[in-house]
Amino acid sequence: VKKLKAAILGATGTVGQRFIQMLHEHPWFEVSDLMGKTSAGRRYGEAVNWLWSPEVPEEIRGIEVKPSKPRNLDSNIVFSAIPADEARTVEPSFAEAGFPVVSNASAHRMDPTVPLIIPEVNSGHLGLIDGQREGKGWDGFIVTNPNCSAINLALVLKPIHDLLTIEKVIVTTMQAVSGAGYPGVPSLSITDNVIPFIEREEEKMVTETRKILGRLEGGRVIEASFPIAASCNRVPTIDGHLESVYIDAEGEVDIEGVKEALRNFRGRPQDLGLPSAPADPIIVREEMDRPQTRLDRMGGTVPGMSVSVGRLRHGVDDDSLQITLIGHNTIRGAAGTAVLIGELLLAEKLIGGG
Ligand SMILES: NC(=O)c1ccc[n+]([C@@H]2O[C@H](COP(=O)([O-])OP(=O)(O)OC[C@H]3O[C@@H](n4cnc5c(N)ncnc54)[C@H](OP(=O)(O)O)[C@@H]3O)[C@@H](O)[C@H]2O)c1
Repeated sequence: VKKLKAAILGATGTVGQRFIQMLHEHPWFEVSDLMGKTSAGRRYGEAVNWLWSPEVPEEIRGIEVKPSKPRNLDSNIVFSAIPADEARTVEPSFAEAGFPVVSNASAHRMDPTVPLIIPEVNSGHLGLIDGQREGKGWDGFIVTNPNCSAINLALVLKPIHDLLTIEKVIVTTMQAVSGAGYPGVPSLSITDNVIPFIEREEEKMVTETRKILGRLEGGRVIEASFPIAASCNRVPTIDGHLESVYIDAEGEVDIEGVKEALRNFRGRPQDLGLPSAPADPIIVREEMDRPQTRLDRMGGTVPGMSVSVGRLRHGVDDDSLQITLIGHNTIRGAAGTAVLIGELLLAEKLIGGG
């Protein structure tokens, strides 16, 4: 089968590097173009400050990084990992020029015509694409993946939302430094410390989770209505966002029933057998002291693509539920979900080689 050509916008960044790791030996995509801002004009291997082991893949090293201009781009899909203020104008220029763009940036997530997708949770929201193209007059389109903490939360809330009537969610996060990109948080600020503020993160967790869990009706998303309060903390771990979640429900919560719903949860990517779909999107741990950031962030059959949950128990009364969860912020929380969206677009024939 002929592979589709995939371009990466922001290829030298923290998420851009994860895209390279996930795409360079992908069965359906091949890396075609790499684009950057300050790195444009240089060979990738020289421009990048590569953060991970193993090294930059050999066939990627010599590719020349291009400026982010749609002209002369020879690709079937563009994966974007650029800052939101850049994405505001750069991503529409690609969509207008006919490219499907899958974006990690927050710039277009809350646009009512832009799907905000976790493939296991709301693949049906891709139904917004036709209206987006028509409304904006674009030949291409933009699909976004959510904020890295919102992805973990919404993925775990989905089977619970299907099982119970949720009245309220209160979440406290402990987020890794790689979530701030590179160089991100200064080492003197974060070493031996916890910082109880991440700019605009709490708002994103609230608004994005409601949109993801909303239902598509008459060409628009009717957002889930339960209130969510979030407190986001930066902690000195490298990867993985851990979250303590408190849920108030209508009526008694059957803890074993919730565990079963989480364990059995599957979505469209599992039905379609997409290459980056983990067998279990949610892993339930029974140990008292799991999940843990270092031990569980790479969990699952596709490392980093499953969210691990544990410590399921009642809160102040039987109508409540407490959960601890952990997801990998640059894999499930960013590049991994974006690649899974790309695979879904291809499997659903919303993109192609033509
Ligand atoms: N880190 C995470 O866990 C995470 C999770 C979910 C979503 N996100 C989102 O993903 C995006 C990227 O985050 P990151 O953590 O990878 O940031 P980062 O490490 O700061 O990297 C951003 C990259 O974007 C490039 N860039 C800037 N302006 C550009 C432009 N106009 N055209 C092309 N490239 C441009 C830069 O490349 P040059 O070197 O060429 O200037 C830089 O390497 C952000 O929107 C972020 O909010 C991040």
